[in-house]
Amino acid sequence: MIAERPDLRHPLADLADWDERVRLMVRPRRYDHVLRVADLACRIARAAGIDEARAYAAGLLHDIARDLPDTELLRLAPPECAIDLAHPLALHGRAARTLLERWGYADPVVLEAVEDHTTGPRGGNPVSACVYVADVSEPGRGVNEDIRELALCDLEAALSRAIVSKVTYLQGRGIRVHPRTLRSYHALPCVGQDGSVPDAPRLPQPDRHPAP
Ligand SMILES: [Fe+2]
Ligand SMILES: [Fe+2]
Repeated sequence: MIAERPDLRHPLADLADWDERVRLMVRPRRYDHVLRVADLACRIARAAGIDEARAYAAGLLHDIARDLPDTELLRLAPPECAIDLAHPLALHGRAARTLLERWGYADPVVLEAVEDHTTGPRGGNPVSACVYVADVSEPGRGVNEDIRELALCDLEAALSRAIVSKVTYLQGRGIRVHPRTLRSYHALPCVGQDGSVPDAPRLPQPDRHPAP
């Protein structure tokens, strides 16, 4: 159940056809997750003065490739590194972008947010930040309630907490971090040139994707 929808006069809000495609592409539980992410991304955007219709659209579309088999993910998004090869699920953001472009979806801001939702925003795209934070903290996950609450008053702080805790979690367990995630990490204002973070968050965030 979606609590609120963006301004339906916005041209990007005409998403009925895309909503149906998503519903057909993912499992029912995933579809519920997608609706919660879209709703939360929209609310975060509204609170931050960001284009809420784009945030809603990116939330709706972000996991459209999430339930495809590995072979299809590898075909849609050729691996860029050893992690991609070992964990094709890490490719589902890039694969989603490829699919959407082939199907005629053309908004570059939304497409970048969809592509980057697995590994983190590359900076300069606040819609991407909304979706990333909404994805890790939507209420159905049962974790990261603090990030969700923070996002509704300070998106930048919530994004930093989400990315830093993910990188800290992975590195603390000796798990290689995806180069794109490291790029997002080093783009954070709170990360120093040596890669350290003063007062890094201590919460061990469960890995939301099997691949780093
Ligand atoms: Fe995802
Ligand atoms: Fe998701």
